[in-house]
This record gives sequence, structure tokens and C-alpha cells, in this order.
Amino acid sequence: MTNILIVGGSSAIAAACARHWADEGARLFLAGRQAVRLEAVAQDLRVRSASQVGTYLLDVNDHHQHAAMLDACREAIGPIDVVLIAHGTLSDQAVCEHDVDATVRELSTNAVSTIALLTLVASAFETQKHGTIAVISSVAGDRGRASNYVYGAAKAAVTTFCEGLRARLFKSGVRVLTIKPGFVATPMTAGLSLPGPLVASPERVASDIVRAIAQGRDSLYTPWFWSGIMLVIRSLPGFVFKRVSL
Ligand SMILES: NC(=O)c1ccc[n+]([C@@H]2O[C@H](COP(=O)([O-])OP(=O)(O)OC[C@H]3O[C@@H](n4cnc5c(N)ncnc54)[C@H](OP(=O)(O)O)[C@@H]3O)[C@@H](O)[C@H]2O)c1
Repeated sequence: MTNILIVGGSSAIAAACARHWADEGARLFLAGRQAVRLEAVAQDLRVRSASQVGTYLLDVNDHHQHAAMLDACREAIGPIDVVLIAHGTLSDQAVCEHDVDATVRELSTNAVSTIALLTLVASAFETQKHGTIAVISSVAGDRGRASNYVYGAAKAAVTTFCEGLRARLFKSGVRVLTIKPGFVATPMTAGLSLPGPLVASPERVASDIVRAIAQGRDSLYTPWFWSGIMLVIRSLPGFVFKRVSL
């Protein structure tokens, strides 16, 4: 039986992952800031085959609550085998360009809170010498685009942090998976004008994530075609990229 902590438990992508794990009989613990949304996800998991589902109210920007949340998780479901960090906000780039507080808030939610959580989880996993830490970053972190570089910078920080953490924890038998979705149809992207054929469902992305964790992979572009798209985008020289960047 697998014990799984999900931070950002009401995220559409995370909830789709949780449904897979519930069907496998996992014990799940969901942390998030909105009781109603969290409980709705938990109820759905309980009527599936989840062995146990706990919830915990947490605003990830309240770093001082992270340790208490981890303690509550262990108390509820036992030693943690898998952590999925899935919370995030899609920054309003136009607002951030003129609002220091908004920019700092976005960097806090999308990067600093994740790094703070990873710092605690990494030490615990290093001691227990097993487990998988899976973190949802984004293709947006691969390159700074004019239209979303605040969000992209936060995700780049998460991607780089995870890369270093993976190297540190490798010797302890702990896996670190960096997940880079492209466009996904979730509440985060609702109302945006996105190129239809490139937009995936949360269920499709969740299947890839669950499989990548089971396979012990280091990184994942999901759906798969984003690895090709980002290979091209990453290889564009800077003097070209700044002219075509959207
Ligand atoms: N959708 C995409 O196209 C896409 C692409 C690449 C990467 N991603 C990443 O995928 C992850 C999941 O996003 P999603 O697409 O599933 O969107 P979503 O359904 O909107 O989920 C975002 C989650 O983050 C939580 N959250 C935001 N701020 C929080 C805070 N301060 N404290 C606690 N929880 C907070 C939200 O909780 P509330 O219920 O309280 O709002 C919500 O559960 C995010 O890291 C996102 O950046 C998404």
C-alpha cells in the first residue's frame, strides 16, 4: 500500500492523479487552502477504493505551517512514500510588470513555497532512505517569454532546485521527478485563448504523471510532444528568441 501526500490537493491535475491512486487502494492526504474544494475531492476518492483519505487546510505561503502539515500527514496515513507538489497560480503578467507586490506574491506561491516544502520533505526522505518527490513545474520554466516570464521564472527556479535535489538524494535512494506539462484544460487556464490541438485534459496528464512516478523517472514533459516543441524552443538563439517571443 502506498502513502501519498498531495499539496495543492484540489488542483485538477492533482485530483486526476489521486483518482488513479485511489483506484489502486492508496492512502491519501490532501493539503490545500479551500476546505470545500478539498473535501469535494476527498469525498470522490473515498467512494473509490482509497484505503484512507485525509485533508489539511494549508496556505502554502504560510511556511511556518509546513512542518505541522507534514506531521499531521504522517500521523494520519503513516510514513510517506510519495509527495506530489501541485499547487500554483497563473500569474497575471501585465499586472506583475507594474506591481512589485503582485510579482513577489507570484514568486512566493509558485517558487518559494515549493522550495520551502521541498527543503523539509527532502530531509525527511533522506533519513528514511526511500520515496518519490514529484513536483509540477511547467514548460514555461524552460525559457523566459515576454508574455509570462514571472510565472516562467518561478517554474525555472523550481526546475533547477529539483535538478540539484535529485542529485543530492540519488545516493539515498530517493527519486525526484520534475513534471513539465504544456497547456492543460483546468481552472487555471479557463478563459484563456489556447491552441486547441495542444491542450490536454487533466486526465491525460495525470496518467503520464502516475506512470512516470511508478517508473522512477527524473523528468517528464506531458503530453509527450512538448519535449519536441521545447527542444526547438530551447535551441533558438537569444537574438532570434527575443524577436519571436510571445
Ligand atoms: N493548467 C496548465 O495549463 C498548466 C501547465 C503547466 C503547469 N501547470 C501547473 O500544474 C499545477 C496544477 O495546476 P492546475 O492546472 O491543476 O490548476 P488548478 O486546478 O487551478 O490548481 C491549482 C491549485 O493550486 C492551489 N493553490 C493556489 N495557491 C495556493 C496557496 N497559496 N495555498 C494552497 N494552495 C494553493 C489551488 O487551490 P485553491 O483551490 O485554493 O485555489 C488549486 O488547488 C500548478 O503547479 C500549475 O502551475 C499547469
